[in-house]
Amino acid sequence: MSISTLQFWHRGQLRSIENVPPTRTLLQLVREDMGLCGTKEGCNEGDCGACTVAVRENSNAPYKAINSCIRMAHSIAGQELTVVEDLAAGGELHPAQEAMVQCHGSQCGFCTPGFVMSMFALHENSKASGQVVDRPTAQEALSGNLCRCTGYRPILDAAMQMQFIPQLLLNKEQTIIIPRGLAAKKSSKISLEDDSTNYLLPGKLNDLLKLRRTHPQAQLVAGCTDVGLWVNKGHQRFEQVLDVTQVQELRRIERYPHHIAMGAAVTLEDAYNALVQDRPQLRAFAKRFAGLTVRNSGTLGGNVANGSPIGDSMPLLIALRANVVLMSTRGHREMPLEKLYTGYRKNVIAADEVLAWIKVPLPTAQEFSRVYKISKRFDDDISAVCLAISVQREGEALKDWSIGVGGVAATPVRAVKTEAICADSMQANSPFNAIKQSLQEEFQPISDMRASAAYRRELLGNLLQRFALDLQGHRLTSLQDWADLEVVLA
Ligand code: FES
Ligand code: FES
Repeated sequence: MSISTLQFWHRGQLRSIENVPPTRTLLQLVREDMGLCGTKEGCNEGDCGACTVAVRENSNAPYKAINSCIRMAHSIAGQELTVVEDLAAGGELHPAQEAMVQCHGSQCGFCTPGFVMSMFALHENSKASGQVVDRPTAQEALSGNLCRCTGYRPILDAAMQMQFIPQLLLNKEQTIIIPRGLAAKKSSKISLEDDSTNYLLPGKLNDLLKLRRTHPQAQLVAGCTDVGLWVNKGHQRFEQVLDVTQVQELRRIERYPHHIAMGAAVTLEDAYNALVQDRPQLRAFAKRFAGLTVRNSGTLGGNVANGSPIGDSMPLLIALRANVVLMSTRGHREMPLEKLYTGYRKNVIAADEVLAWIKVPLPTAQEFSRVYKISKRFDDDISAVCLAISVQREGEALKDWSIGVGGVAATPVRAVKTEAICADSMQANSPFNAIKQSLQEEFQPISDMRASAAYRRELLGNLLQRFALDLQGHRLTSLQDWADLEVVLA
C-alpha cells in the first residue's frame, strides 16, 4: 500500500509533503515536518487549544480555528493552513497579537499561540462579515482555549480590542487565491485513481460507497475529534483511513416541509446552527457542546456513529425523534436514531455501510422541548448526564412525550418506560413525582470520573423538576438564565 503525498496551501504556495502516514496528526506535521514549533502541544486530546491552527477551504471561505492535535494531517488536503508563525511574517504584528501585547494577555505564553490563532480567525471572519466583536462573541470564539496563568479577563479584553487596531501590513503571502473546489477535485482524484493509497478522501458519495465496499477494513473517520484521541492516547494506528469530510453530498443541510436532513459530514457548528434556527431554545446548549475549535472539526455524523454514551447530540436527537439513514452500494435503510446502537460503542452499521444522513423533524406549533447538560465545567466539557425532553402541548394536556438520556447506560437511550407512564394524559400543572421516580429507576448508571451513580440518579430527578418549572413558565431556573440576564442588564 502506498504512503500518501499530502498537498495543501501554505503562505501562498501549494506545499507537497511526501510519505505522510494516515494517522499522522496535523500538529505533528506542523511541528515536525514543517519545523514550525510556535504551535504548542498541551493536552494532545482537544481540550486546551494550545495547538490551535486555522484552515479554510478557499479564499472566500471563513477561517476555521481547529485543534491540530486531534486532526489527521491528510484531512486538510487542498485547503489553506495558517499557523501562528504566519501572522507576523511581514514584520508587523497581526492585530490579534498586538492586542494581546497591549492588554497583557500572556504570562508563561504556552497557551498564547492557540489563543492568538482563535483570535486571528475571529478577527478575519468578523472583518469580512462586518460583525462587531463584543464580549459574548469573544467568549464563544475562545471557548476552546484554556489558560492556567493569565486569567481570562485580559485575553477577552484583547479579543475585543483587536478590531480597533489598524492592520498596517498584511502578510502579502496570505493574500492568496485558492481555486474553489480544489479540495474536492484533488480528493476525488486520489480516491478514484489510486485506491491503494492509505488515506482515502473521496469527494463524491458514489465514490465513498464504492470505497467502503472495497475497503471495509479501512478506519472510517470524519472530524476525528474522537478518533484523534484513539491515536494519541490509545496509540492506535490504522493501515488505511477512509475520510468522509470532503464528500460534497454529505456536507449539505437540506430543508423539507416536515424535516431537515443533515449530511453526516456537516460540522457540529453548522449542524447546531441549523437546529437552533428551528428551535432557538437550544442555543445555549449548542454553544456548550464543546469549544468552538472542536465544533469546527467534529461532525454530527461522527458524533452519532461513534455512539458514545456521553455524547451530547444523541439524547437531543432521540427526544426530537430523529431518524438516521445508512447507505451502501446495495441501497439504503432508515431507522430511529436510538435503534442504531446495540451496546457500548456497538451499532448495526454493516461493514460496507456508512451513516449518510440524519433527519430531524421540524417543530410543530405545540412542541415544547428542552435539553439539559450537566458537566463539571460549564464550557468545553463532557456531560455527566444529558437529558432531553420533548412534548406536545394541547391545551393543558401534555402528549407525545419523547425523552432521550445520555450518561446513564452503555449507549444513548430513549426512556421508554417513563414515556409509557407519561402517555396517560399528563397535565402541565400535575405533580411530576411519578415520572421523576420512573426516570430515576429506569436506568442503572455507573460511577466514574465524571459522577457517581447516585449523583446521576439524583440529577435525572432534578432535571425533570427543572423541565416542569420551565413548562410552567418559571424564569431564572438555571445559571445560564442568570448569565443571559446579566448580558441584558449590562
Ligand atoms: Fe490541547 Fe491540542 S494540545 S487541544
Ligand atoms: Fe500561561 Fe496561559 S499564559 S497558560
